[in-house]
Amino acid sequence: MDQNAKKRNVAQAAVNYIEQDTIIGVGTGSTVNYFIEALEPIKHQLAGAVSSSDASTKKLEALGIEVLDLNHVDSVSVYVDGADEVTEHKHMIKGGGAALTREKIVAAVAKKFVCIVDDSKRVPVLGRFPLPVEVIPMARSYVARELVKLGGDPEYRQGVVTDNGNVILDVHNLTISDPVALEKAINNITGVVTNGIFAMRGADTVLVATDDGVDSY
Ligand code: 5RP
Repeated sequence: MDQNAKKRNVAQAAVNYIEQDTIIGVGTGSTVNYFIEALEPIKHQLAGAVSSSDASTKKLEALGIEVLDLNHVDSVSVYVDGADEVTEHKHMIKGGGAALTREKIVAAVAKKFVCIVDDSKRVPVLGRFPLPVEVIPMARSYVARELVKLGGDPEYRQGVVTDNGNVILDVHNLTISDPVALEKAINNITGVVTNGIFAMRGADTVLVATDDGVDSY
């Protein structure tokens, strides 16, 4: 089965986690785009959505789903999002689409985080995928030097400005044996907005599309 068919299957499976008449959180990326498509038949059962990116907001609104300001929302029942890597401990690397900060905010608010991936994203240890770090533009070189001290090789993602007006450093060659500790250490560097390790708030459920169907853990 090709990767897009797996993404479509896992996105469809995530619809089962939606509770009627609640506000849902919607992530960003190609897998989530299939999830947004899968919302079409049940969109009237939603109380609205909060979105993790301008790109997802546009797609939701095009379907007629109301996108709410997170500041006007008391609770988000479930947050559905993809990942660049996910472990058996439900820790993730995210941010390949540069939406990591808003994704982390919506994930923090949500009661339940459902991560949707195809089986190429499953890894024993995080770090093969370069770790995205969102950085205030004037701090870019300083943060890069600090990331080198932590053992990484940061690379400026050319031509990308996040929805928050910041830049992304992709950090290669990190060994992420303690994701919680590294998530905190990188977030402690002055000028870092956040980094793409989602370990302090990992997923609650991971859905993985394989050739044989969709597994969950
Ligand atoms: C965007 C993300 C995405 O969830 C991640 O990059 C996975 O995307 P895709 O489903 O296209 O593989 O974190 O910032």
